[in-house]
Amino acid sequence: MKIISIVGARPQFIKLAPISKELRKQYNEKIIHTGQHFNREMSKLFFEQLEIPAPDYNLEISGGNHGEQTGKMLIKIEKVLKMEKPVLVLVFGDTNSTLAGSLAAAKLGITTVHIEAGLRSFNRSMPEEINRIVSDHTSDHLFAPTSIAVKNLINEGLSKKTYFTGDIMVDSLTGNLEKAKSVSRILNEINLNNFSYYLLTLHRPYNVDIPSNLFNILQRLSDLDEKIIFPVHPRTMQIIKESKLKISKNISLQKPLGYLDFILLELNAKKIITDSGGIQKEAYILRRSCITLRTETEWIETVKSGWNLLLNPNKLNISDILKFKPPKSHPSLFGKNVSKKMVKIIDEILASELRN
Ligand code: UD1
Ligand code: UDP
Repeated sequence: MKIISIVGARPQFIKLAPISKELRKQYNEKIIHTGQHFNREMSKLFFEQLEIPAPDYNLEISGGNHGEQTGKMLIKIEKVLKMEKPVLVLVFGDTNSTLAGSLAAAKLGITTVHIEAGLRSFNRSMPEEINRIVSDHTSDHLFAPTSIAVKNLINEGLSKKTYFTGDIMVDSLTGNLEKAKSVSRILNEINLNNFSYYLLTLHRPYNVDIPSNLFNILQRLSDLDEKIIFPVHPRTMQIIKESKLKISKNISLQKPLGYLDFILLELNAKKIITDSGGIQKEAYILRRSCITLRTETEWIETVKSGWNLLLNPNKLNISDILKFKPPKSHPSLFGKNVSKKMVKIIDEILASELRN
């Protein structure tokens, strides 16, 4: 039976890896890459390092306005789905590739599973929030990573199609951590000692698209007591270059890193400072203090547990970062062996469709 997984952006390749491996034990899985992320270090490197089979289709759609990008994806994904006629489509997370994939499949009446369903930041000015809501409402089966995500789906009347699965990124992380420890040379390459640096990532439009906002955040952070390692997302690099931003010496700009190098840097960081979704979870799982430069998050559990501190990026005070200390308690929030659990549910979904 044929299943099609639709991905396009860096975090989706990371989410795809473990479930693709599990699916291929019994299904004919094909992969559509929309092309949303396309630099080698944002795309191909992840397929190589995570041993994901090369995409069967690369639609080469990137950039442009949201409507334009999503529309182009929709047109091309529909064509592929009509030709391939899968029994099931998998979409991941909350990017424009998720939205286009779930809409195309829903319009064709193909059973769709949304992995990482039910997240809500309750901030509709984030493009991801719109993508999440639409994808959850058009998909047939919703795999929710956390109990709060389950509650959000119940509140929207979607309980009948919701499954509490745990978070797929747990499998990506636990499946690659030992490999990262033995293979990655990143600490030597950039001359770092354990716990003597902060790890920073920034790519949310509200933090980086207005150059003065980005500059102010970086200026404030440069007063921290240790070096800051900053692997720069292409969106952010574009702004830094175009606006010729002067970056303080203790901020070390790096190109986007491969997964193995990046998780090793997370593991050994004094603290992690980010506006990423996935990195908040990884910091928690790796027991690293996380400071999230946002006023809200969809990963509320990490904040409630005391391991993730939300700071308003426009009113940043580094003493909040310096004094932040998570508690000793560290409950399990995201589950384990998630991809196996997900494929078992997919088996049941398909078996029940065959019966009806
Ligand atoms: C996208 C997702 C966001 C996710 C992020 C993960 C949407 C609306 N946003 O944001 O949810 O958190 O990916 O990283 O889907 N670019 C390159 N090379 C690349 C990738 C991007 O140059 O390999 C450039 C694009 O041409 C574009 C800009 O970076 O100009 C932004 O890319 P885009 O995919 O539109 O949004 P992201 O900010 O990456
Ligand atoms: N990541 C990576 N290299 C980097 C930065 C991030 O491999 O230079 C990984 C990180 O470990 C996490 C994922 O990318 O698994 C997060 O993706 P991103 O921050 O781009 O998107 P978001 O999770 O915010 O949608």
